[in-house]
Order: sequence, then structure tokens, then C-alpha cells
Amino acid sequence: MNQAEKERAAKLGKKWTPAGYIKSEIEAIRKQVGDKKVLLAMSGGVDSSVCAVLLHKAIGKQLTCVFVDHGCMRKNEAKEIKKVFKGKFGINLIQIDAEARFLAKAKGITDPELKRKCIGGEFIRVFEEEAAKLGKIEFLGQGTIYPDIVESGVGGHKAVKAHHNVGGLPKDIGFEGLVEPVKYLYKDEVRKVGKALGIPAEMVNRQPFPGPGLAVRCLGELTKEKLDILREADFIFRDEMAKAKLDKKAQQFFAIMTNVKSVGVKNNARTFGYVIALRAISTAQFVKAGIVELPFKFMTKVAEKIATKVKGVNRVVWDITPKPPATIEWE
Ligand code: XMP
Repeated sequence: MNQAEKERAAKLGKKWTPAGYIKSEIEAIRKQVGDKKVLLAMSGGVDSSVCAVLLHKAIGKQLTCVFVDHGCMRKNEAKEIKKVFKGKFGINLIQIDAEARFLAKAKGITDPELKRKCIGGEFIRVFEEEAAKLGKIEFLGQGTIYPDIVESGVGGHKAVKAHHNVGGLPKDIGFEGLVEPVKYLYKDEVRKVGKALGIPAEMVNRQPFPGPGLAVRCLGELTKEKLDILREADFIFRDEMAKAKLDKKAQQFFAIMTNVKSVGVKNNARTFGYVIALRAISTAQFVKAGIVELPFKFMTKVAEKIATKVKGVNRVVWDITPKPPATIEWE
């Protein structure tokens, strides 16, 4: 057992229950934070959502959540987050539209790791600026989960990718410390805790969405044009999966902007458009993943719909590579 595994075993104990975990985490958060304040980086994914509600239950108004729209969110995501967290839970939530700022910062960067680090670093800068506006905030909350730690090379494991929540953090984050209440949980365990916390099922069961968002699915330089194309293609795919009641079959399914252009034909005229890739995987712990077999008719229908309806796209391919050797995300 390495250090990370020992810490996980100590935290969860032998008879793990979501209710027991919530109780002990609430106590641990209160003990760590005292009467100080926490600023939570909300990405819109399951992990930071569960983290937000857990922190809210523990310290209420001492928590401020900041949701930064970095321009790499899925279609309608920002609106839905506001509705649930501000509306239903009454969480102190600030939304920042930082699309232009992020795209300017990422301009010209094509290397996947540099892109991740650029976005992760910019996130922290935005939080620091927000914290400065809000007065003294001592702690930074984060929805880091156990696979993030394992795959970022902490605890004796070899690094696969610089995950947003770990590797993207600059050394000097300007806070007294980090609060990471779901750090020793796997994704399915985070969902169980979320359910026990009363988070709506559609949010708890929502497929994971990485911190850098569509940036890790948009190959090459990040541009608004490419991200908008990807957003539309991704929306069609997710919508069709839900309509066909196939969305429960896959833990993650999404579109990828390949950054490759190919020749096509629309309305009897030659086109030179982007190739969109689609991927649907099934996995227990997200460390390994298999491919979900979708009905062929469905696959051709979605491919045709995206290639005809999304401006700038003329070809769709399916990614049927398991993890390993491929990772789930393309970058
Ligand atoms: P990979 O691509 O490494 O993904 O096979 C494994 C799982 O992690 C998610 N992922 C991330 N989650 N920050 C996150 O919070 C990140 O930077 C990040 N990168 C990948 C990915 O969507 C999959 O569920």
C-alpha cells in the first residue's frame, strides 16, 4: 500500500457509508475552517457540485462558490448551474463570464499539457482576483477526487496527465490552505454522497466533466469558432442519446473537435469542414474504460445529423478505442 492508498483506507474505514462520510466530513470541514471563509472553484462537474453542497452544509454562508465560465462549457451549462445551486440550495454563488480572457490567454497554445496548465493556472488567477474583491478568504475549496491524485502522480503513481485540480495549480495559490472533502473518493462514491446530500438525481448522475471542460476535447488551438462547433455537435449527441434512452448505458459520452479538416459535399458544392469524433465509454472507476456498443442505426443517424446540421462540420467518426491504450479524454 502506498501513502495515498493508506490515507484512503484510514479515511473511509472498513464499513463505509455515505451518511457516515458526510457526518465525518462536515465535522472535519468545521474543524479545519473554524470561523474562516472558503472560496470554492466550481467547474459544473459532479465532483465540485458535491463538494459545494458538502461545504454549504458544514459552513453555510462562510462559503462562496465561484463559477467561472471559461468559454469551454457545454451548451446551457452555466444557466443550469445557477438554477440548481443558487435557486434550489441557496448557495452563495458568483458566476463570472471569462470566455474572452481565457481564449486570449490560450491563444497559440497547441500542446495538450500546456493548454491544461494554462487553463488551470488562469482559473486560480481568476479566483485570486475574486477573493481580493470579496475581502479576506482563507481557504480554497476543491473537488479533487481520488483518481485525480492517482493519475497526477501523487502517492508513488506515475503521472498520466496534469489534472486540472492538482497539476494545474501554481505553487503559490495565495490561500492559507486547501479544503478537499471528496479527495479520497472514487467517482461512484462521490455520486452516492451527492445523492445522500439531496442533490437532484440528474445532477448526481451527470457524466463527469473535466475542469478544463471542452478544452481537452478541442484539439489544437482553442478558438471560439471551434468551441462553438464542438458545443453544437456535443449537444446533438447528448440530446439524441437521451431521446433514444441510451444515456444510462454509458458513463461518459461526448464529441471531440479533432482539428482535422476534410473534403465534403453539401448542396452539390464542395466543402472543406471539420471532422467531429464521438466517443461513448463504460467504466467502473474511470481508470480503465471500455467502449459502449450503440445500435449502428443510431450511430449513423447521429453522425448524419451532426454533419448536416452543424455549420463547419462535414464528417463524423466514432472513436472505439478502450482505455488503455487511449485515455478517456483526447487531451
Ligand atoms: P482520462 O482522460 O485521464 O480521464 O482517461 C479520466 C477521467 O477524468 C476526467 N478528467 C478530468 N477531471 N479534471 C477533472 O476533474 C481534469 O483535468 C480532468 N481530465 C480528465 C475525464 O473526463 C474522465 O472522467
